[in-house]
Amino acid sequence: MSKTAILEIDGKKYEFPIFKGSENEEAIDIKKLRDLTGLVTLDPGYKNSGSCTSEITFLDGELGILRYRGYAIEDLAENATFLEVSYLLIFGRKPTAAELEKFENDIRKYTLVNEEMKSILDGFPKTAHPMGILAALTSALTSFNPKSVDVENEKDVYCAVCKTMGKFLVIATWTFRKNMGYPLNYYDNTKGYVENFMRLMFEIPTEPYKVSQTVIDALDKLFILHADHEQNCSTSTVRMVGSSHAGLFASISAGVSALWGPLHGGANQAVLEMLEEIHNNGGDTEKYLAKAKDKADPFRLMGFGHRVYKNFDPRAKIIKKAANEVLATLGVEDPILDIARKLEAAALEDEYFKARNLYPNVDFYSGIIYRALGIPTDMFTVMFAIGRLPGWIAQWKEMRENKEPIGRPRQIYTGSPLREFK
Ligand code: SDX
Repeated sequence: MSKTAILEIDGKKYEFPIFKGSENEEAIDIKKLRDLTGLVTLDPGYKNSGSCTSEITFLDGELGILRYRGYAIEDLAENATFLEVSYLLIFGRKPTAAELEKFENDIRKYTLVNEEMKSILDGFPKTAHPMGILAALTSALTSFNPKSVDVENEKDVYCAVCKTMGKFLVIATWTFRKNMGYPLNYYDNTKGYVENFMRLMFEIPTEPYKVSQTVIDALDKLFILHADHEQNCSTSTVRMVGSSHAGLFASISAGVSALWGPLHGGANQAVLEMLEEIHNNGGDTEKYLAKAKDKADPFRLMGFGHRVYKNFDPRAKIIKKAANEVLATLGVEDPILDIARKLEAAALEDEYFKARNLYPNVDFYSGIIYRALGIPTDMFTVMFAIGRLPGWIAQWKEMRENKEPIGRPRQIYTGSPLREFK
């Protein structure tokens, strides 16, 4: 006999089934709530509401667990490559060596971006933020690839996935190239996906460019750690936009815009700006902790806190360790890293942060590695987007395969009663 929930309203009892997931998470299934009771639920920010069932990512905020298709994030970060994890997230299983090679070669087929897209880039001012340009160019891919829009059959979906993985990486680097006044680079099909990112960003025609394996390995790991995170703000946006049968590129473009916000993916840029400000103000971490605790002050400790993790973000632990290793290997002495360590230690001891279960999240240390790799601060959230791309694709694909209905939440109206206009 499966468990149920009883709701009593005005003396009348209503019974709702309780749905249990494969990791024993439970939800009250309220699909029939309004039909039976005439009422809806109210839950701003969806802190207590599940939007879907999903087989892609499992996380436990209390225990600090994160798994992609059942594999622990620690295991994947140590033993997988970003393209293997991308295939796993999108197609639901580890690729064989042959499938992985085919996937990488099929992505290579689509890394050329229509030259006309460059005139869209030219229309932006040099001061434009890379995330705004990335959102626009991603949406523009729809116009140049009309067949990859509202895809249904497996072959077309696979083609759209490879196109997105290929073209997104290239256009993601265009803003930086434009800002530097450099010519736009092309993907080099003789090189790997992650090495290509560094070449697309930094290779200039006048001299040979070499990427160290340390840098490639660090970036590969960072992209894996960012690849998916169940129904976060940007992923929920991709699913919502995709539920209207808007195409994959348009849905991903919406996800880029949602990720841009400083409360979400934009936090990695905000963390570095905060750490630099603390460093420039003599390293007074106590002053910034006090600002973060002051309700009258809108300042928040960027890179701290999380909607789901009420324990350490497992990704933050891995990135913190990687930051030490990468900086040591590259021989980079960064005073910002010392500020970050000092701030983290002080916050973890502070009653305000402990009482609210505020711990470092994925964004707290990632920027320190990006900075050591020479990536400019305003490109940090673009790095997040490159990592999150396979997760967005996987979640969009699952939503379409599950034939989920168009997303359309209800509301409770609190505005003016009927009144005459004249
Ligand atoms: C990401 O959802 C995901 O999975 C996201 C992500 C992913 O992989 O997709 O993990 C990536 O977005 C990580 C989060 C990056 N954002 C930041 O680092 C920005 C700083 N953090 C916060 O703004 C905040 O912690 C959020 C947005 C992350 C979570 O906010 P919630 O869940 O809505 O929590 P809340 O705002 O209700 O805060 C609860 C309390 C409040 O105090 P009280 O009103 O109870 O007194 O904690 C306080 C908040 O004021 N608080 C903070 C704080 N975060 C929460 N106070 C100071 N500094 C902070 N960082």
